[in-house]
Amino acid sequence: MADSVKTKTADSTHKSVSVAEFFEKNRHLLGFNNPAKSLLTSVKEAVDNSLDAAESNGILPDIKVQIEEIKSGRFKLIVEDNGPGIDKKHLFKAFGKLLYGSKFQTTGGKQGRGQQGIGISSVILYGQLTSGKPAVLISKTKSDAQAHLYVMGIDVKKNEPEIVSDEPIDWGEKEHGIRIAVEMEAKYVEHKQSVLEYIKQTAIVNPHAKITYVSPSGEKLEFPRVSETLPIKAKLIKPHPHGVELGVLKRMLKATNARTIKSFFTKEFDKVGGGAANQIIQIANNALEDENKKLPEGKKQGEINPQYSPKLITPDQVEKLLLGMQNAKVARPSLDCLSPIGGTLLKKSLESEFDLEFVNTITRSATVYRGSPFQIEVGIGYGGELDKEGAVKLIRFANKVPLLYQEGACALTQSVKKMNWKPYGLSQSSGSFPTGPAIIVIHMASVWVPFTSESKEAVSNYPEITKEVKLAIQECARSLQRYVGKKRRAEIESKKREIFKSYAKEVAKAVVSLNEKDAYKLSAEVIKKKSEPLLTKLNTIAESMYSTGEDLEEMEEEIEKIEGDEAKEAKVEAEETELAEERDEEKEEFKEDEE
Ligand SMILES: Nc1ncnc2c1ncn2[C@@H]1O[C@H](COP(=O)(O)OP(=O)(O)OP(=O)(O)O)[C@@H](O)[C@H]1O
Ligand SMILES: [Mg+2]
Repeated sequence: MADSVKTKTADSTHKSVSVAEFFEKNRHLLGFNNPAKSLLTSVKEAVDNSLDAAESNGILPDIKVQIEEIKSGRFKLIVEDNGPGIDKKHLFKAFGKLLYGSKFQTTGGKQGRGQQGIGISSVILYGQLTSGKPAVLISKTKSDAQAHLYVMGIDVKKNEPEIVSDEPIDWGEKEHGIRIAVEMEAKYVEHKQSVLEYIKQTAIVNPHAKITYVSPSGEKLEFPRVSETLPIKAKLIKPHPHGVELGVLKRMLKATNARTIKSFFTKEFDKVGGGAANQIIQIANNALEDENKKLPEGKKQGEINPQYSPKLITPDQVEKLLLGMQNAKVARPSLDCLSPIGGTLLKKSLESEFDLEFVNTITRSATVYRGSPFQIEVGIGYGGELDKEGAVKLIRFANKVPLLYQEGACALTQSVKKMNWKPYGLSQSSGSFPTGPAIIVIHMASVWVPFTSESKEAVSNYPEITKEVKLAIQECARSLQRYVGKKRRAEIESKKREIFKSYAKEVAKAVVSLNEKDAYKLSAEVIKKKSEPLLTKLNTIAESMYSTGEDLEEMEEEIEKIEGDEAKEAKVEAEETELAEERDEEKEEFKEDEE
């Protein structure tokens, strides 16, 4: 029986698939799950690129997004920017090949919106798949005498650009920029996860950008520039030894042109001087020595000499060097790879987007997660146009990009839910989202944001990150508590005044009744009976006034309790890190002098 079943050879059943083919089939992985989300993802990929390109070239972004309805279920998306444009040599691959881009870094890197080199080519791929039409691009760089118009698609089998036409065109006064037009199957919606919401939120965290939006109905909305200053330019940093994994270290050892293992560490890594390099090698050698004790004579590993060539390091030695890298005392990574929004600008943007009574924003100092620096910013707005009864509005951002999907799965959302909001002045039933007229903005700026998927919609739940988010929210919410407290106090005062006014009327009535001409005839018992209801009322009023005031004090005490231990813990941690850094720097200077 078994003999009669023909087994196919590997040759006939196995084949390789191109990355474009893979994503064509699994487009949900890149955020193209349904027509409405696909339109939003396409806008997001194009606008994120325009912002990245303009900012990194010192240009204040001016972006126009237009959506036209071609027929039912078919739309054309046009995004035009004033960025640097892109030269022909790179343009075809950047737009017509998945996993080709200028921003990908295996390790180290800098804060940016794009990372993988997939975004815009996946939009063109999706358009081609659902409309059968290639994309139309116009690009002009400063040095080009004339703009060029390209019609291009993607050869899915080869994952290569497919150029239909390429000709010069007149682009009016435009000095430089890119215009991309893609037709696609889409659905236009106007709810929480819409294109308009994405643009609104993008404008909040990019106050230096001017965005014009033309909806399918032809309505034109302008999001003006709130700040004329470009954000701090994030600088590229080398990988930090605490954040590198084994495979990457092996590859770096192979690729380096450093002549010795010691100079490999000082040249290729952030914050590693001679002292730290020696320490890494020392820890590795100690680990090798420990292991050698358990091994028979012929299997023992040789010690790593700092002067060895990186190419001569054995696989076992690489593992021990990684151990050394993870355990050596190395100063925190350079933080100029980050570009936060800044509290003042975030506040200005929130005030210009919403009509609010109160706004507070904070930017925490940068900290490190697995060798990658990150920074959390929080803004809280209260009152004004916000809904008094509903759930608090949460706006999440990662590297200045709004996150509109997967709210429940996001660590930023969970941090808001886990907070005890009552002491800070918002209502909340246990374990759920706070309610009240408030808006909370959370921004995570990082060299590497640990997204839950390639479509970059939610931040993974890592303790280092959630802890920092919690501290940031608490820091920002403290002034909300003060504001709400002050407001409530004012309300209590006016309520008290009202109560006293009505009480005065009651007292007057009682006095009049006691002053009736035959009042002296009343027995003590009757007087007691007559005044009893008044006294009871008076007591209730006094109690309610006392307890409302007490309520506010309780809130303050509770905040102190909640934050006391955590704040102390965080302070001790920060002091310890600082001390360790100082020690390291001194040690390093000393060792370098010695050397
Ligand atoms: N509007 C633009 N202006 C100038 N260059 C651009 C523009 N859009 C894209 N590029 C270039 O094309 C490359 C590919 O863009 P793409 O969106 O595919 O990837 P990415 O932005 O690098 O990463 P991600 O996949 O995370 O978006 C970019 O790295 C950039 O160099
Ligand atoms: Mg991109």
